Amino acid sequence: MSIQPIGIFDSGVGGTSVFKEIKALLPHEHTIYLADSFNAPYGGKSKKEIIDLSVKNTELLIQKGCKLIVVACNTATTNAISVLRDAFDIRFIGIEPAIKPAALSTQTKAIGILATKGTLSSELFHKTTDLYSHGIKVIEQVGEGIVSLIEEGKTDSEDMTVLLQTYLKPMIAADIDYLVLGCTHYPYLIPLLLEMLPNHVKIIDSGQAVARQTKAVLEQHHLLNTQTLIGNSQFYTNGNVDVMKDILDGHYDVEHLMF
Ligand code: DGL
Repeated sequence: MSIQPIGIFDSGVGGTSVFKEIKALLPHEHTIYLADSFNAPYGGKSKKEIIDLSVKNTELLIQKGCKLIVVACNTATTNAISVLRDAFDIRFIGIEPAIKPAALSTQTKAIGILATKGTLSSELFHKTTDLYSHGIKVIEQVGEGIVSLIEEGKTDSEDMTVLLQTYLKPMIAADIDYLVLGCTHYPYLIPLLLEMLPNHVKIIDSGQAVARQTKAVLEQHHLLNTQTLIGNSQFYTNGNVDVMKDILDGHYDVEHLMF
């Protein structure tokens, strides 16, 4: 059982930010990554559509023999993970915006959250925000258009700069000291964001926490791969292979697969 791969899926290339954290913490694990870029972005889709796509991705990863599935997409986690947990006999790790650490650490009592419409409108997100945001101003912003630009390979572009300037303006005006990245595509924007934000603003995402949680669950259920060789990492996309290769810095092969 333990030599089976960890399955990871996202609406596209963004979940590779989570894959990189998992690889760094668990180098001996084999992994299979699915980028559902053909159907990206998930952020503006209905809950039902997000659930159906998440089920489709899960079925393929199970068919490929995965022992655990990381839903490396905030939109899919916040809208579909409870359905997935009920429907499949496999363990799931999800990702959610890191509201809690930001809310507990803010000095200015104002935090910003950038995420998709699907995440910000989800019940799970509202529950977490209600729990931790007492006495704190939470500036929520839908990152409309960001995922599509990243999927087109335009992460570092004039169009992206213009979008981010618009989205950050109200947050900077509200004097946020934490910016929570609530979408796994967004860590790729950190260099741009750091140029635009005042120096005291800290950026948090949940990638490392997900990797730690993945390790803990594998340990707890005796599913760790104890081999000493570095694990294989397979990547499948139903979208643009070159964009996927670029985001992985050319370190891995990527296969095109319609799913
Ligand atoms: N990476 C996905 C997330 O974390 C992007 C969602 C989308 O495709 O809109 O939310």
